[in-house]
Amino acid sequence: MVAIRARLQQARQQREQLQRWRQLPQFVRADARFVETADGRRFVNFASNDYLGLSDHPLVKRSFADAVVTYGSGGRASPLVTGLSQPHTNLQRCLAEYLNREQVLLFSSGFAANHGVLQTLAPHYNAILADKLVHASWLSGVRLQRFQHNDVDAYEQRLSQVSAQQQQNTSVLVLSESVFSMDGDQAPVQELLNATIPKGVQRDLWLDDAHGFGTQGEHGLSIGGTFSAEQVPLLTLTFGKAVGVAGAAVATSQEVADYLTNYCRELVYSTQFPAAQAAAIHTAVDLIVGDEGQRLRQRLAETIQSFQHLSKQRGLPVATSSTAIQHVIIGADADALWVADQLREAGIWCTAMRPPTVPEHTARLRITLTAAHQPSDVTHLVDRLAAAIDGLAARVELRS
Ligand SMILES: Cc1ncc(COP(=O)(O)O)c(C=O)c1O
Repeated sequence: MVAIRARLQQARQQREQLQRWRQLPQFVRADARFVETADGRRFVNFASNDYLGLSDHPLVKRSFADAVVTYGSGGRASPLVTGLSQPHTNLQRCLAEYLNREQVLLFSSGFAANHGVLQTLAPHYNAILADKLVHASWLSGVRLQRFQHNDVDAYEQRLSQVSAQQQQNTSVLVLSESVFSMDGDQAPVQELLNATIPKGVQRDLWLDDAHGFGTQGEHGLSIGGTFSAEQVPLLTLTFGKAVGVAGAAVATSQEVADYLTNYCRELVYSTQFPAAQAAAIHTAVDLIVGDEGQRLRQRLAETIQSFQHLSKQRGLPVATSSTAIQHVIIGADADALWVADQLREAGIWCTAMRPPTVPEHTARLRITLTAAHQPSDVTHLVDRLAAAIDGLAARVELRS
């Protein structure tokens, strides 16, 4: 890549100077609770989105393995070319039934789903309003009008600005998330739905349930289970988080699904995920809505409560969050990296999130809790976090 080497090097230097150059960690073993590096060090994993530990569930693994034997390992071609297999169709039907939606389209990832569907539908809207903190998969070249995070007044203001700028019959698409990926807080969905809509405006709400599906709501069905298809006509689900596999879906009406099947490039020109993956997802979804899911969510809730309680007891600057996503804002990138390093020394794997993933000056530790964590893991985490934060205060004092 001689032609662009100088530019790449310059970009790298810039990020390195800001302590933002990233590298992929490598593990030789990983399960729902631990990761292990090649030098034999084992860490309790507080970075994974496998909130219920289902990636390691014997039934999920068994159905993946059995379906590989039956259907082979590949996806073979796009679904329009080689068609959907029985496990794909069964999965679509089961999700549509659980979520009370007409149709569910499967995608290779949540990123592809959000990116592809937004690109396809955006030209049909006069304006697209989005919460300030929506996921990067929606930031895809489509012009978004952002409103302050979870601020319903700011959202209403945006709506009236749009209606003032447009002719009659203004169509607006609104984007938000059930659980925000970096802050772990939840969108005020009911308030967004209740917000005053100016005359002549019609709005559709699209919610990304990536971090809510499996963990929130009755039977773990989160937003899709709580709000109807009329209230939330587009819903993104991802299968790489609480479901413990990979892939994603968009639940919507038959009419929109048919349109997307013809026009969404991510569906038309991309190999579908393998049938075996669909079988494993289906098993995991059935576990989620059943008694086992209930038990795992209860365990997760206890872990969250315990982490919040112990952190507050120790005076740690942990943000209040009732979801599996917890965070401690550190501020400077280098300081967040230092705290993450201290935790690593103590056998804890936890990622320092830095801009551009999070807003400037809000570098943080993103801590994810799962049903696979033991009470002793949480106590150890809080102890070591308290020590690291104390150590950081001493370092900052030395610097000043
Ligand atoms: C809110 C949100 N939406 C979508 C995605 C993308 O999903 P996937 O990882 O399946 O590409 C993520 C990924 O972390 C996410 O946090």
